[in-house]
Amino acid sequence: GHLTHGSPVNFSGKLYKFISYGVDKNTGRVDFGEVSALAKKHKPKLIVCGGSAYPRFIEFEMFRQVADDINAFLMADIAHPSGLVATGIHPTPWPYCHVVTSTTHKTLRGPRGGLILVGKDFENTWGAVAPKSGRIKMVSELIDSAVMPGIQGGPLMHVIAGKAVAFGEALKPSYFQYCEQIVKNAQILAETLLNLGYDIVSGGTDTHLVLIDLTKKGISGKKAEISLEKAGITTNKNMVPFDERSPMVTSGIRIGTPALTTRGFQEDEMVQVANLIDNVIQNIQDETIIENTRNSVSELCNQFPIYEDCAIDEMPQLS
Ligand SMILES: Cc1ncc(COP(=O)(O)O)c(C=O)c1O
Repeated sequence: GHLTHGSPVNFSGKLYKFISYGVDKNTGRVDFGEVSALAKKHKPKLIVCGGSAYPRFIEFEMFRQVADDINAFLMADIAHPSGLVATGIHPTPWPYCHVVTSTTHKTLRGPRGGLILVGKDFENTWGAVAPKSGRIKMVSELIDSAVMPGIQGGPLMHVIAGKAVAFGEALKPSYFQYCEQIVKNAQILAETLLNLGYDIVSGGTDTHLVLIDLTKKGISGKKAEISLEKAGITTNKNMVPFDERSPMVTSGIRIGTPALTTRGFQEDEMVQVANLIDNVIQNIQDETIIENTRNSVSELCNQFPIYEDCAIDEMPQLS
């Protein structure tokens, strides 16, 4: 899940009672036996699927079966794979989900923002009616009014314009190629790391992200993240399934391929990236090797400038 899926420190966990489900220890995939058992025990009104570090396709259809068994609504948070969903590379949440939410700034590659989608609209079942006519309100109306006037102030017109640009880009054939390459890049990264002896949660990926379990390497996610950052490689410390370390320390790192793919990295470069990561992890105490790796990262990035007319001569120094 995500903080907004009921973490006690987030408004969602303060206002609602969430019950979490997990993944199977061996496969790293959602444990539907557990989901079903918890659903029958707690009878939630809403089931939420989707997460921040799940490398596999979200199993919308299976979640819907569980939701139907207990007459619950199903909401998918597709913040991570929404670009892959838009291009059909990831299965679609429709018609299985009642409501779908997404951010616009991950694989969708737009500005920071969000969206809420309702597929086939339906009347609410908890008695919300229009005050004058007594008409039963549609769920889309309730969501619209929960946003405005419920919580939103003035609209951010520049962000709305940015979203329009991103959605326009997502309709282009080049965006489909981009998304295809994102997944190829993540898969070659996962495969190369596996061959180098790393534990990859779920054994690989269907999407843009790779979750590395460093437990057996005896290195925390925090330490790995800091050392990789010194070498110019941006990753994210992340809990792994059944993690014994705290969320501030963690036993894993999460890597996403969208930014490198935008840069133009393909399979060959991803193999190099995996080796550069390995170089740092294997020599985590050796500042000289980390510095040399930083130079290699710099050289690689210089071959793929973000803006064609602006090669990076020197990477910014971290203080
Ligand atoms: C699954 C999921 N939902 C929602 C969000 C919220 O994103 P933000 O806080 O950037 O709006 C994230 C961000 O990491 C996410 O991973």
